Amino acid sequence: MTVASRAAVTRLKLTGFRNYASLDLTLDMRPVCLFGPNGAGKTNLVEAVSFLGPGRGLRAAGADAVRQRRDGEGAPVWAVHAEAETADGPVTLATGSDPDNPARRRTRLEGAAATQTALARLFPMIWLTPREDRLWAGPRGDRMRFFDRLVLAGEPDHARQASAYEKAMRERQRLLDRMDEGMAVDPAWLDALEAEMASSGTAMAMARKAALSALQGEIDARPPSAFPKADLALEGLLEGFLDESETEAEARFAERLKSTRRKDAAAGRALSGPHRTELLARHREKDQVAADCSTGEQKALLLGLALAQGSALARERGTAPVMIFDEACAHLDADRREGLADAITAIGCQAWLTGVEKGLFTAFGARVQYVSVEAGRAVCEG
Ligand SMILES: Nc1ncnc2c1ncn2[C@@H]1O[C@H](COP(=O)(O)OP(=O)(O)OP(=O)(O)O)[C@@H](O)[C@H]1O
Ligand SMILES: [Mg+2]
Repeated sequence: MTVASRAAVTRLKLTGFRNYASLDLTLDMRPVCLFGPNGAGKTNLVEAVSFLGPGRGLRAAGADAVRQRRDGEGAPVWAVHAEAETADGPVTLATGSDPDNPARRRTRLEGAAATQTALARLFPMIWLTPREDRLWAGPRGDRMRFFDRLVLAGEPDHARQASAYEKAMRERQRLLDRMDEGMAVDPAWLDALEAEMASSGTAMAMARKAALSALQGEIDARPPSAFPKADLALEGLLEGFLDESETEAEARFAERLKSTRRKDAAAGRALSGPHRTELLARHREKDQVAADCSTGEQKALLLGLALAQGSALARERGTAPVMIFDEACAHLDADRREGLADAITAIGCQAWLTGVEKGLFTAFGARVQYVSVEAGRAVCEG
């Protein structure tokens, strides 16, 4: 596969970040394998990398949680600086605590305030961590959050649409709660909020649908590999409406919201909409729903999805995303570790992998750079 470009970190500097007092790592564009004992700081390091993309990173941590705590005290501020290769060429990015409000994070791209959409475009990012182990059998919301991140990696505007939708939904609910308490509510205001929900909600559903079909296409076209194929589907009210046209779906969703005001007021939440969509997955070969598969099979399905999305993005958008696999190798047998190494090489991305021993990465050989991590220090080998 020829990759036009890849998003890659070439230098990473941390100050007062989790267990790192300070760190300065110079890297090349190859994947990075981090190894070291439990508690060394491997996940912290890949979390810092995940901070270069949009959102709150792979632990969904607040700005103050990552500030280094020492002897009950803490560093007053924290920062992550990166030099990176992107689709736009080399850029510098800095993110850290806002000096005026430590509970907030401030991100600057080439010295100017960065929007979430710009970060999503420059740093398409896919990650899998042990948190995702129970994704198929766990709550619906976690699955959708995972899928939305895959969507965002290919559609940088997806998060903005989702937050516009959620903001309008919260505001509508506030009005419905007041209505439920017998207070007067301006119906034109409700109409306007529902129109916003219908428009951003339909955009969200369209982006998900397009991403799902590209991802399924990629999975179907892939030769058999160490990772099983999944059959995916999205199930929800808007997904049904989208079988007609986008305009039709938006109008029908707005009508539905209007007709369910009383019900939603009584329930204390909107009972239908893209925030209730479900991602369904089946293990094709076993013809079994993902939730019924064994722990190892569920993990392998997820890895298969992440890798398929990585190669779909590299091919269709011309930029390979940064891919983070925290502790992925520990649970894979030798064949699957080899399969993972080959898949990452084929995508041509800068993947970040972590493990407790260097030996877990033997299959990668010289295709990667090795970083040894111990007690909040990280050293690039060679
Ligand atoms: N805000 C913070 N300030 C200081 N130390 C922190 C902070 N947050 C987490 N730590 C510490 O950082 C250490 C390293 O954590 P990390 O999760 O990166 O380890 P790891 O190398 O991934 O280990 P494992 O192999 O067990 O997953 C832990 O001991 C943790 O308590
Ligand atoms: Mg860890």
